[in-house]
Amino acid sequence: MTARTQVGIVGAGPAGLLLSHLLALRGIDSIVVENRSRAYCEARQRAGLLEAGTTELLRAVGLGKRMDAEGLEHGGIYLQFARERHHLDFRDLTGGRWVTIWAQTEIVKDLIQARLAAGAQVEFEVSGTEVADLDQDRPLLRYTDAAGTRHEICCDAIAGCDGFHGICRDSMPPGLVQVAERGYPYSWLGILATVPPSTDELIYSRHQDGFALHTMRTRQVSRLYLQVPADEDIERWPDGRIWAELRHRLDVPGWELKDGPITEKAISPMRSFVASPMRYRRLFLAGDAAHIVPPTGAKGLNLAMADVTVLATALTSLLRDGDPGPADAYSDTSLRRVWRATHFSWWMTSMLHVEPGPDPFGPELQLAQLRYVTSSRAAATTLAENYTGYYPLHWP
Ligand code: FAD
Ligand code: PHB
Repeated sequence: MTARTQVGIVGAGPAGLLLSHLLALRGIDSIVVENRSRAYCEARQRAGLLEAGTTELLRAVGLGKRMDAEGLEHGGIYLQFARERHHLDFRDLTGGRWVTIWAQTEIVKDLIQARLAAGAQVEFEVSGTEVADLDQDRPLLRYTDAAGTRHEICCDAIAGCDGFHGICRDSMPPGLVQVAERGYPYSWLGILATVPPSTDELIYSRHQDGFALHTMRTRQVSRLYLQVPADEDIERWPDGRIWAELRHRLDVPGWELKDGPITEKAISPMRSFVASPMRYRRLFLAGDAAHIVPPTGAKGLNLAMADVTVLATALTSLLRDGDPGPADAYSDTSLRRVWRATHFSWWMTSMLHVEPGPDPFGPELQLAQLRYVTSSRAAATTLAENYTGYYPLHWP
């Protein structure tokens, strides 16, 4: 079956869904294809922290209602090392900027609901996704729907929002895409627990036995992470061991970590990865399909949403106004933001995680850097302006 759309979107993660929503606001139609089920997309535990610009964008495009009612605004974070906890006040350091705890699961739920309510075509549980005729002005998107029918969609442009393991990046012509990447010799073990957070703002803790992070989802649900070896087996971490290790790494005198039932437990690898260019003719990559950052800077989701904000404007100029300028600039514009976030995420990761193996030099550098960030206003401001989002987002 052959059909037409203006923009074929691969992937119903935050990038693909938000792009479809933004394009619709500009009168441009799209079809989203996703190989997982709706329930899976809505339940996949991932990011939880939004930059100020991301929350303002969601509000500006009609997706802020639940976030405003239920999200948690934070004006800073705690940095912990050597059993001392220091507060960084972002509002003071940046002239009023803040971040918001609002889970990716909730953003995805609101986006799916908004797209379906607007009558958009979002196809879940597809298989055999392919993109073809990429050297033409009418590229093709092919997939098999949940009922087994094969479809071919003739598009004016295709957006590869299909995450790190998607097919779009590898569909670009061989030799075009350059990859810059860095691996880290550790992973994060993340848990979700039904217990009120033991802190008002996030705690990033560098401990000689490994990094730990206390974050949250709501006033009733805590999210915590532990640095573990890169190839760690989750079976080695029964709930009691996780709580004991969190308590050990987050310990400061006079403070206590409350525990509760663990409802979710997973290990995620850490990686920095940037593919460039993010475009070949009328195929555009956005979000994790083009770049991955380690989660220490909380940038992945924010970058994905920034990419598609730039892309929606570029595609509007191209498809509605016949102006290819912003589409031609899309990759360079996005990569500037991506590399700033890549550096920040690498820096936060390197400052806070313990490298395996004996090395007296690295740990002393980390402690010197942490002491500097928590005592110099200039250094603290560098962290704060990156954490809250360095490049502004424009959605006129
Ligand atoms: P994805 O969310 O990966 O979506 C891609 C979609 O494409 C998926 O639904 C996938 O099923 C689909 N797909 C793949 N292949 C195909 C195909 N062939 N056909 C059809 N569909 C396909 N970021 C932050 O900003 N802040 C945080 O606090 C934060 N914390 C994190 C914590 C953890 C533990 C992890 C793992 C990540 C975290 N991130 C964070 C990163 C953030 O979750 C990702 O950057 C974000 O999900 C990227 O969105 P995306 O839409 O680009 O990709
Ligand atoms: C999260 O809430 O999941 C989270 C917050 C901050 C990070 C990483 C993850 O740096």
